Amino acid sequence: METKLRMVVTAGPTREHLDPVRFLSNPSTGRMGFAVARAAAEAGYEVVLVAGPVGLKTPKGVVRVDVVSAREMFAAVEAAKADILVATAAVADWRPKSCAKKKLKKGEMSGVLELVRNPDILKSSKVRRKIGFAAETGEAVAEAVRKCKEKNLEFCVANDVTAPGAGFGVATNRVVFVYPDGTAKRLPLLSKLAVARRIVAALQRGRSRK
Ligand code: C5P
Repeated sequence: METKLRMVVTAGPTREHLDPVRFLSNPSTGRMGFAVARAAAEAGYEVVLVAGPVGLKTPKGVVRVDVVSAREMFAAVEAAKADILVATAAVADWRPKSCAKKKLKKGEMSGVLELVRNPDILKSSKVRRKIGFAAETGEAVAEAVRKCKEKNLEFCVANDVTAPGAGFGVATNRVVFVYPDGTAKRLPLLSKLAVARRIVAALQRGRSRK
């Protein structure tokens, strides 16, 4: 690669606090995103890994920015000024309307949680080349084609998180690369690092097409 392309990768969950000790989140471990960051660094990309709260070691040669909320993640992605965005993060789509400065007492909670929408980082990002993930419970391809168009993606990595060997916290993934024109390339059950290497290879092929 002549000039080093800059890639920003989002990984892990976000946390949306309602007070300092309570938050909305999900069980994402960040493994897929950390694998993409590692594979991209090994392939010679300059990599910024924007990570939600996860317990993983930073891959060699990768610059890591730790964030908590979706809004922080979005700001870090845009600040990275990258050529490519690979969005693997399981971003919380909603956040509590307000976050109390001090721990809420039981009596101060009404039992109703008012939520507002978080930004869609992948959809709103100004990064030129964007790759997304579509985690579904069931047939993911049609949904991934829709996402490619809606979010202006080069391609989308679709997976059924309920399939054997796939999903949150496991070391393997069974994915399909889905392109905006509806082309789908089904991969076998692979380690997340192997999936990550395929993503990087697909990006390199995409670059040579342009
Ligand atoms: O629309 P959906 O949430 O299923 O799209 C998933 C893709 O969009 C993933 O690549 C995810 O990282 C990204 N995303 C995002 N910001 C959000 C929601 C999803 O970047 N608020």
